[in-house]
Amino acid sequence: RDQSKKQLSEGMDLLTKFYHYLLATAKFGKSGMNYLNDRGFTKDMIERFQLGYAIDSWDTATSLLERRQVNLGQMEKAGLIGKRGFDNKYFDRFRNRIIFPIFNPRGQTVAFAGRTLGDEKPKYLNTPESSLFHKGKILYGYHLARQSIRKSNQAVLLEGYVDVIRAHQAGVTNSVASMGTSLTEEQAAMLFRAAETIIICYDSDTAGIEASFRAAAMFQESNKIVKIAKMPEGFDPDDYIRKFGGERFKSDVIGASQTLMTFKMDYFRRKRNLVDEGDRLLYIEEVLKEISTLKRAVERDHYLRLLAEEFSISLDALKRQEMQMYKAAK
Ligand code: GTP
Ligand code: MN
Ligand code: MN
Ligand code: MN
Ligand code: MN
Repeated sequence: RDQSKKQLSEGMDLLTKFYHYLLATAKFGKSGMNYLNDRGFTKDMIERFQLGYAIDSWDTATSLLERRQVNLGQMEKAGLIGKRGFDNKYFDRFRNRIIFPIFNPRGQTVAFAGRTLGDEKPKYLNTPESSLFHKGKILYGYHLARQSIRKSNQAVLLEGYVDVIRAHQAGVTNSVASMGTSLTEEQAAMLFRAAETIIICYDSDTAGIEASFRAAAMFQESNKIVKIAKMPEGFDPDDYIRKFGGERFKSDVIGASQTLMTFKMDYFRRKRNLVDEGDRLLYIEEVLKEISTLKRAVERDHYLRLLAEEFSISLDALKRQEMQMYKAAK
């Protein structure tokens, strides 16, 4: 078993170098390199993240693996090559895609993602889980971010691979991404071993916002600090940094991140017209209901005060109503 893990790891390292070499070679890598240049990724990031390019061919990687006598059955199981039904021949799974090797914390490749250059589906093709890769336990970019997470005592959690690369390019080197899934307990534990605070900055669409609510809610009962960063609707960190620059990302997005409750209050507020009395009452009820779900009395008290100040209503009245909701929820 250990032997086969070692073989798999060697095969993946070989392919990481091969795809990276193809990208850097003018004769093969031109369209891949043009794509990355057009998106504004620097040479330095291409190196740091060992990005690669799979040329538009059915047998380039397969022949390399054959020549190097890599176990092809194992590579097939790991999702790097496929096998044709009618003649049992192996073929390359990644064709005409930008290759993102996915590393474990020691910097060894354990999986790959390949992005189309155009808008074919699927946009990202991923290799499946294997003895080396359990996606709920891996964070993209962690091997490069770990030191910076320790130093800043903060980890920034993003949604996509390109978001991580863009953030690192902008100097936000404590950034990582979960692997296309919501944050898992294992991933959070990895981050909390190195930092006190996690700042979630998922894509600013309904799916992303709801996923950040869920992730933040996972930690409501712990002593951990989870904050949510806000961007204009429709942006992801990569879009934001390209449009507004890294400095504004640091100050206005990461620097302005909020606790779950403040973020929710903001989110509810934007849905309503608070000049309207009816809307105002609905908003207050909505917030009270959220407050009543908090486990800690100090926290409930804190947000009740904020709400009382915001609308100059009596704290006592708010407390009475919140208490009713708290009891009803129990
Ligand atoms: P760009 O379009 O290149 O900017 O990538 P993105 O990261 O903005 O993509 P998106 O917001 O659509 O998705 C976020 C993350 O979800 C990606 O980084 C992937 O991890 C995952 N994802 C997106 N599309 C696919 C897909 O078609 N298949 C798989 N397996 N994962 C995907
Ligand atoms: Mn290189
Ligand atoms: Mn999205
Ligand atoms: Mn995105
Ligand atoms: Mn994007």
